Amino acid sequence: MNNTPAARRQEPLLDAVLGAVRHVLGQPDALLSLHEPEFAGREWDYVRDCLDTGWVSSVGAYVDRFERDLAQFTGAAHAVATSNGTSALHLCLLLAGVKAGDEVLVPTLTFVATANAVSYIGAHPHFVDSEPDSLGVDAACLEEHLREIAQVVDGVCLNRQTGAVIRALVVMHVFGHPCDLDALDALARRWRVVLIEDAAESLGSSYHGRHTGNVGRVSALSFNGNKVVTTGGGGAVLTNDAGLARRAKHLSTTARTAHRWNFLHDEVGYNYRLPNINAALGCAQLEQLPAMLQRKRVLATRYAAAFEGVAGVRFLLEPAGTTSNYWLNAIVLDEGSEPLRDDLLEALNGAGYGSRPVWALMHRLPMYATCPRMSLATAARLEARVINLPSSARLGT
Ligand SMILES: Cc1ncc(COP(=O)(O)O)c(C=O)c1O
Repeated sequence: MNNTPAARRQEPLLDAVLGAVRHVLGQPDALLSLHEPEFAGREWDYVRDCLDTGWVSSVGAYVDRFERDLAQFTGAAHAVATSNGTSALHLCLLLAGVKAGDEVLVPTLTFVATANAVSYIGAHPHFVDSEPDSLGVDAACLEEHLREIAQVVDGVCLNRQTGAVIRALVVMHVFGHPCDLDALDALARRWRVVLIEDAAESLGSSYHGRHTGNVGRVSALSFNGNKVVTTGGGGAVLTNDAGLARRAKHLSTTARTAHRWNFLHDEVGYNYRLPNINAALGCAQLEQLPAMLQRKRVLATRYAAAFEGVAGVRFLLEPAGTTSNYWLNAIVLDEGSEPLRDDLLEALNGAGYGSRPVWALMHRLPMYATCPRMSLATAARLEARVINLPSSARLGT
């Protein structure tokens, strides 16, 4: 327990947060995890069908169906299923034309996969700051930063300080809350960078009525076991461009050219296709998604009400004009309460409420410590004050 005078003054806040969480979740018998999968539909039937028919690998009817269902649910013209969200992001960057030596604008407040996918190409993440309402990329601050360090020459954005081309901007919908896509899309167009949405966390979230993943030229989803919908491991590329969708599928299937038996490949491709058995799980999960989203919203509403009267902390609400899937519920401590974050994590986890801080910021990780960046002051302040709370859909029943 942190025993500084500042922390001691904050003990009432600790009790109030624990009380609010207990009010919403009751007293659990065992540790509640942050987000657990739920298989209440036809998952067993569809997976059994794969085993019965032998269609377990990278070809099969469930992969095609999963892609159709995803496109229909998200409103994207095309969905290409991949082995995970990281491979989907890697493909998105390749499709955006990112090359070795380029820079890609990436939020420092994200999961490490967003930055890693940039590195897989030999490109460099250029870290950008977040804004405190959505926790997404701060368009106004980024605009100011680009005015200082970049210029558009012959339709390409050049970093005057490093000489590198800034090829793309990856935005991320943190915890499922859509970031300010209109402003970020306008910025990307002005600065001639390709907008990519890392929508790994935001299946079921929409921005002014459009599902996330529809504004960026290409977008990535994840179906990791901790996401709203899981395929065990899996992901997808969303795009409204038929040519890019064809290319995503080609690159994800070892760039093999169509032939009944010959193994011919016309470029270096990847083994990134989602197996049929995983897609079968995904098809059943998508059938359950509307009901799961509803329960997640009930849970978020309960948290919001419970924290309304708690001074010193705010429950992170969906930004105006958006609908969040509330993938992970989060509270943000007021400035000055940073010393209490770890005590709170200790107390919450100790009482059976699996809780986590936000990811360590990307620019602090050893492999990204020397990457170009703008001032990351807001992200740093958020890092010290955000706590995720148990968020499984079943808790909203
Ligand atoms: C923001 C973000 N990007 C990318 C990923 C990577 O997805 P995956 O774990 O499916 O590779 C995740 C989650 O895992 C994520 O939260």
